[in-house]
Amino acid sequence: MNKNLSVNTGHLGPFVATGEILALASRAGLLLDALVSGTGEGSDFTGWITLPSDIEKELNDIEASAARLRQISDTTVVIGIGGSYLGSRAVLEALGDSFGQYRNKRDHQVLFAGQNLCPDYMHELLTLLDERDYSIIVISKSGTTTEPAVAFRLLRSHLIRKTGRKEAAARIVAVTDKAKGALRKMADSEGYKTFVIPDNVGGRYSVLTAVGLLPIAVGGIDIRELVKGAYDMKRLTADNHNAATNPALLYAAARNLLYTSGRNTEILVNYTPKLHCIAEWWKQLFGESEGKDGRGIFPAAVDNTTDLHSMGQYIQDGERKLFETVLSVESGQREVKVPLTDDNEDNLNFLAGKSLSFINTAAEEGTRQAHAEGGVPNIEISLPALNGYYLGQLLYMLEIACGVSGYMLGVNPFDQPGVEAYKKKMFTLLGKP
Ligand code: PA5
Repeated sequence: MNKNLSVNTGHLGPFVATGEILALASRAGLLLDALVSGTGEGSDFTGWITLPSDIEKELNDIEASAARLRQISDTTVVIGIGGSYLGSRAVLEALGDSFGQYRNKRDHQVLFAGQNLCPDYMHELLTLLDERDYSIIVISKSGTTTEPAVAFRLLRSHLIRKTGRKEAAARIVAVTDKAKGALRKMADSEGYKTFVIPDNVGGRYSVLTAVGLLPIAVGGIDIRELVKGAYDMKRLTADNHNAATNPALLYAAARNLLYTSGRNTEILVNYTPKLHCIAEWWKQLFGESEGKDGRGIFPAAVDNTTDLHSMGQYIQDGERKLFETVLSVESGQREVKVPLTDDNEDNLNFLAGKSLSFINTAAEEGTRQAHAEGGVPNIEISLPALNGYYLGQLLYMLEIACGVSGYMLGVNPFDQPGVEAYKKKMFTLLGKP
């Protein structure tokens, strides 16, 4: 039997008592009920809860489209922003080869656009695409978001110039609303292959729809493992009323207690750069779900041990309003050992024969102890391994925890009214009709 991801609140002792966490997690069972039964606020957008089984019927189609894009092109540009971007990038970076793009024999490459408005980024991308045989996946639920819409106009024009309109249409896949928005209209009139984002699934909860799964499959990752992990995690979270064994309830309760005791910043900590974008996805999930009505924990992130040499000072010694959630990976995919040298000129022979994981784990445990002594509590989310199955567990557990956590705060975790403010100002400046 597979081990499962677990949430460890055992180190919070001096800051929050284990009994308090369990008591709040048990009370939060009622909020979990409201979430799962669709009686809580924002219930029109809780379709993601059953996605691990609902998406099954679409997997063949997603895999077939991904295989076709891989076959007809050497590169796919994925256009999207926010919830239509971060999940796929997070999984691809976590599971892909960190140096894949530099190898002489490259696998199909997935590039991203539409997540910024930087002219240099776009110019450099277009110049690269002059030399590539590429396809496009354009993702926008509303079909009207400015950043991806502008990127799509630029890339589509480039592709049409390169291949002609008919061939370009065969190389474009759109993931959007079933009926609304400019992208849907364009996809229908140009005859693009499309996938639908369900009405009841908001952007930041959409990684287990074609929004996340299509680019992930194009990147050569087994999406069934991801979905299976989420499916198994649903039984442990959405369907599990035992607070002591429900990692989502424990995580939501622990962070809520830390928040109410004055810690308004949560830092998601990793010890592998492969998890950098998982933290970006998590920041959007929690930041956009909770940060409203003058409330909410500010989600921040560090990549250790890199950031121990930049942010480490502040975390150890700065203002005491922080807590950390450490994403701990029990075993890596590969092992590298420190060699013995005859001269020991660098004085590192005491580590000879030791693995990098061993040293990394010592850094992780040493940092945890030092930060706790410095007044920074930490929760641990432990992944038995970094693979698709456990990432599926992680993403789903965090989504359930976020829904419950939002309800604990008394906010609607499924809307994002604040995101409109900058758009209004920008459109005025741009003279949008
Ligand atoms: O979570 C959200 O709803 C947002 O972050 C959106 O995903 C993001 O703004 C992109 O929107 P759209 O998919 O409509 O282009």
